[in-house]
Amino acid sequence: MCGIFGYIGKKNNAPEIVLNGLKSLEYRGYDSWGVALKSLSNNNKIIVRKKTGMIGETNLSSFTDSNIALGHTRWATHGGVTDANAHPHLDCTGQFAIIHNGIIENYYELKQQLLAKHHKLISETDTEVAIHLVEENYINLLSKYTEVSEDKLTKLFIEAVRKSFIQFTGLNAIIVMDLKSHSFVAAKNGSPLVIGKGNGENFLASDAHALSPYTNNVFFMGDDQLVLVTDEQIETFSLLDGHKLTPKFERISWGSSFSSSKGNFAYFMLKEIYDQPKILQTISENHKELINDFVHQIKHSRGTYLVGCGTAAYACLAGTYIFSKIAKRHVNFTVGSEFGYLVDFLSNRSLVIALSQSGETIDVIEALKKAKEKGAQIGALTNVIGSTLYRMADLKIPLSAGVEKAVVSTKAFTAKMAYLYLLAYHLAGKSKLGQQMLMKAVSASEEILSENYQILIKKLIQKIYKKEHLYVIGRGLSYPIALETALKIKESSYMHAEGFAAGELKHGVIALIEKGTPCIAFLPNDDSYGANLAGAMEMKARGGYIIGISYKNHEEFDYYLPINDCGITSAIPSVIIGQLIGYYLAISRKTDPDKPRNLAKSVTVK
Ligand code: AGP
Ligand code: GLU
Repeated sequence: MCGIFGYIGKKNNAPEIVLNGLKSLEYRGYDSWGVALKSLSNNNKIIVRKKTGMIGETNLSSFTDSNIALGHTRWATHGGVTDANAHPHLDCTGQFAIIHNGIIENYYELKQQLLAKHHKLISETDTEVAIHLVEENYINLLSKYTEVSEDKLTKLFIEAVRKSFIQFTGLNAIIVMDLKSHSFVAAKNGSPLVIGKGNGENFLASDAHALSPYTNNVFFMGDDQLVLVTDEQIETFSLLDGHKLTPKFERISWGSSFSSSKGNFAYFMLKEIYDQPKILQTISENHKELINDFVHQIKHSRGTYLVGCGTAAYACLAGTYIFSKIAKRHVNFTVGSEFGYLVDFLSNRSLVIALSQSGETIDVIEALKKAKEKGAQIGALTNVIGSTLYRMADLKIPLSAGVEKAVVSTKAFTAKMAYLYLLAYHLAGKSKLGQQMLMKAVSASEEILSENYQILIKKLIQKIYKKEHLYVIGRGLSYPIALETALKIKESSYMHAEGFAAGELKHGVIALIEKGTPCIAFLPNDDSYGANLAGAMEMKARGGYIIGISYKNHEEFDYYLPINDCGITSAIPSVIIGQLIGYYLAISRKTDPDKPRNLAKSVTVK
């Protein structure tokens, strides 16, 4: 859940390179940040700067020159959000610095052992335990020699990290910097780490795109691997027994036409909402070759399962309706964290398709590992080429939506929806119609992004932004859209919002409706219209303030947001309205939709 960046090379502005890397990764965790560097001017000591809050416009003059540095943006798991708990952490001697992503589940037992050996720990984190263990193992290894060459020192460093890492339980990635051997050792068994090879310089990062300004020659570390990184060397070893491995470097093509800068938009969330029509159009034009294998596999598998978390889970749920309506096919869906408990029925003829923007969500990855053990085929729809999900899948579709930086996911959702529609239409033998329907959704979405439409939404926001609760209803395909709209509102504006299947209202939820409670009802032109309208009327009868999102107005609506009728793909413009409501509520309630409190973009811990 954190951003990690490391640099080693000939340049003396390593801290600046690391800070810039961290800024591009800050969405991965942003409660605190820190950088450790080996100072060229101060006796080659390790200097650490760390702080709670976001990096912002940090003054680089507080960093001395250095040609080796590493940095971290934290999403706290163990220990509060304090300067002392921020990474990097040092050992007692100040020879080693560590940054860490994950949870060392047995940290407490290890800590007791280290305290008994008089190590001084100053933070509450599991991470600090790791660096003292490295120190302990290093000292023990070193004590066996009377004289050690430079080469031997490096070997001892590698072995000390290896011995420490295999003592941890849980899923972790660490990078340790060693003052003496002037090198990094990285180790992982869960969270992502990518090594970038430069010319006389090398890089480490938690997300490949952070390396794009420097190199496209990258090595995605596998689980149970350890890597030594100096300015000239990248050597890989097995964590289990220390034997040497051959790293597999690949050339990444960064080429997405969607810029990863905010441009004139106030927030990434708004920029990414506006990216959507172009992304959907590109998908509609370029999807054919990408989906053929999937279509074949779905046809021949005995059972197809969709799995994802959060927003991606709602796309999966939408997929169940889309496949049923368009392709007359039953697909199952479960959220990632529950999937592992439901795998007993999988066989080597099952197909499990994971939907994930980041391709790193640990609940999804863990679910897939279990599915693989059962011999199931794995499909992936992900936005990050080279991600763990991308690499573990047998079949893959890159969403190609461009880097999604706002923690509140928008464009990845509609890109997933677009592929689900296209897959279903292909399965039904109606690929041309699928393309046409998607393009209808593109023009309806463009309407919603017009200036006049923004005025309409902003007027609505003025009426509701001070309310405490908001409810969203839908039926059929509008049900996952209601859930997704409520999630957008919750995470971007912190307003309490709940999405419901409209039919469930009378089974309990309706007790919550009071005079003036805002209630959004999605009413597209489909077989859910009449029954869903009845739900809206039931809420109105209890005093609800009804916001109708529909292809036609109705006297029961207190506020009407029109949408061009595009049949079954109306779900796309509908959800874009939901995203905009979330965004403008955030602006009026003065919250930051790009980095909501307590969240992180890539959820790599359980
Ligand atoms: C939604 O806006 C996100 N904050 C979150 O729910 C996200 O969709 C979820 O964590 C899954 O992420 P993924 O698509 O990268 O797997
Ligand atoms: N468990 C570590 C901590 O709480 C690492 C958290 C992270 O991945 O950012 O500091």
